[in-house]
Amino acid sequence: MRVLVTGARGKVGSAAVRALVGRGHAVTGTDLGPPDYDPPPGAVPYVRADLTDAGQAYAVVRDVDAVVHAAAIPRPYLDPDPVVFTTNVAMSAHVVDACARNGVRRLVNVSSDSVCGITWARQPAPPAYLPIDEDSPDRPEDPYALSKQVSELLCDALVRRSACTAVSLRPTWVQTPETYERNLGPFLRDPDLASPMFWSYVDVADLADLVALAVAADTPGHEVVYAAAADNGAGRDLREAALAVHPGLDVRPLPRPDASAISSAKAERLFGWRPGRSWRDVLGG
Ligand SMILES: NC(=O)c1ccc[n+]([C@@H]2O[C@H](COP(=O)([O-])OP(=O)(O)OC[C@H]3O[C@@H](n4cnc5c(N)ncnc54)[C@H](O)[C@@H]3O)[C@@H](O)[C@H]2O)c1
Repeated sequence: MRVLVTGARGKVGSAAVRALVGRGHAVTGTDLGPPDYDPPPGAVPYVRADLTDAGQAYAVVRDVDAVVHAAAIPRPYLDPDPVVFTTNVAMSAHVVDACARNGVRRLVNVSSDSVCGITWARQPAPPAYLPIDEDSPDRPEDPYALSKQVSELLCDALVRRSACTAVSLRPTWVQTPETYERNLGPFLRDPDLASPMFWSYVDVADLADLVALAVAADTPGHEVVYAAAADNGAGRDLREAALAVHPGLDVRPLPRPDASAISSAKAERLFGWRPGRSWRDVLGG
């Protein structure tokens, strides 16, 4: 397939490019960074575009079978709230509309676990139950999570009005070999250190595999799936740890004691995705 990856220079986008190229797709990347005007032979084609600009988005999102939309401001509070919301919503609106108008057949929208409303919330509420899954309520209140919820609503509308089908992936905290120690090390060293999403994480290469599976699959309509590693990133007994923070919480049967607080069962059912990588591969233990 001819696949355009937005945010191609970013953490997730660059891994998605590698995974898609590895599966034989004809990939083009787009991002804000400058192009190499003298690219080496075999380089993945790249076009610079600011996707908050509708004209640039319509010019770039065309002549492809599928789009992976990974461009975004990837977290709140480091930019003013309205900038996070309007930047992300503008990009999603332009990319989704261009998919509809320019005959794109498949959109894989990189959304976020934050849509559930816990990850970045200023006033995080306990989850309705664990593990969190696609039937859990969405209660976003921060500008980033709201922008991601809007991206999913745009995908709902896209499949109503065009032949394009869509998948929104809701990855939790994405880790690379370079970030495991920095991000998860403190939780491993301090058993009292809490995390609103119960130390959920996903390896970037596993997530890139899911992107590639979702691109190639033929699920109709718009599906939303969570994506997390099988285990939690602190090696904790999830039931014990969750009940210590939220006594009385409905903790349902778990596939393993140190399970993730997020279920990826739907991603496995729809796409055959089984995340195989763990923090233990990098940090030991
Ligand atoms: N990193 C995580 O833990 C995490 C978790 C859940 C979801 N996500 C989502 O995954 C996607 C990728 O995140 P990431 O971690 O790779 O972030 P990143 O910052 O590494 O990559 C995002 C890319 O988007 C590009 N971008 C930003 N504004 C743009 C614009 N106006 N026009 C074109 N490109 C623009 C950036 O230049 C950057 O390369 C995002 O949608 C993010 O919300 C990330």
